[in-house]
Amino acid sequence: MIVIRTPSTKEEFKAYYALRYKILREPLGQPHGSEKDDYEPISIHFAAVDDQKDEIIGAVKLFEKEPGVGQYSHIAVAEAYQHKGVGRMLIQAVEQKARELGYKKLGTLTRLTSTGFYERCGYRAVGITGVLFGKLQMMWMEKDL
Ligand SMILES: CC(C)(COP(=O)(O)OP(=O)(O)OC[C@H]1O[C@@H](n2cnc3c(N)ncnc32)[C@H](O)[C@@H]1OP(=O)(O)O)[C@@H](O)C(=O)NCCC(=O)NCCS
Repeated sequence: MIVIRTPSTKEEFKAYYALRYKILREPLGQPHGSEKDDYEPISIHFAAVDDQKDEIIGAVKLFEKEPGVGQYSHIAVAEAYQHKGVGRMLIQAVEQKARELGYKKLGTLTRLTSTGFYERCGYRAVGITGVLFGKLQMMWMEKDL
């Protein structure tokens, strides 16, 4: 069974960041460390865990973008688990927490190649933003909670 929970030990955080690196940064040729940003300390972290193997197979984090607006980022699902509903489970957990925190709106910066996933989860495209690592055009997508 896949469960969503906050990583709680040093080893779990190590696995959480390693997954982010493998899925989101290694394919772009980015160095170790690029899987983290300045929002780590003020974020709520969610891990998808395959509890039969006790293995972290999904990750995402939530932080406050501005008063009343939550933002999540760095969503990643291990290759063997993609397209099985894990990404949707992570988004649902983030949305539940965002509502508990009183956010009225929730959004994310996404690569243009992933907008279909967020549309399936009920997000609308708002506008093109910057370019990530000089190669990936990013789009802001959001939903009212
Ligand atoms: C994008 C990602 C997080 C989605 O997670 P997932 O577990 O594979 O997605 P799910 O199985 O929960 O899919 C939910 C829905 O979105 C659709 N979907 C998933 N990935 C999609 C994509 N890249 N484009 C269009 N639709 C997509 C699924 O078909 C499913 O549709 P349904 O409602 O008809 O069943 C995951 O595939 C991933 O980690 N990809 C590589 C890293 C990445 O691109 N991260 C996002 C950076 S912005």
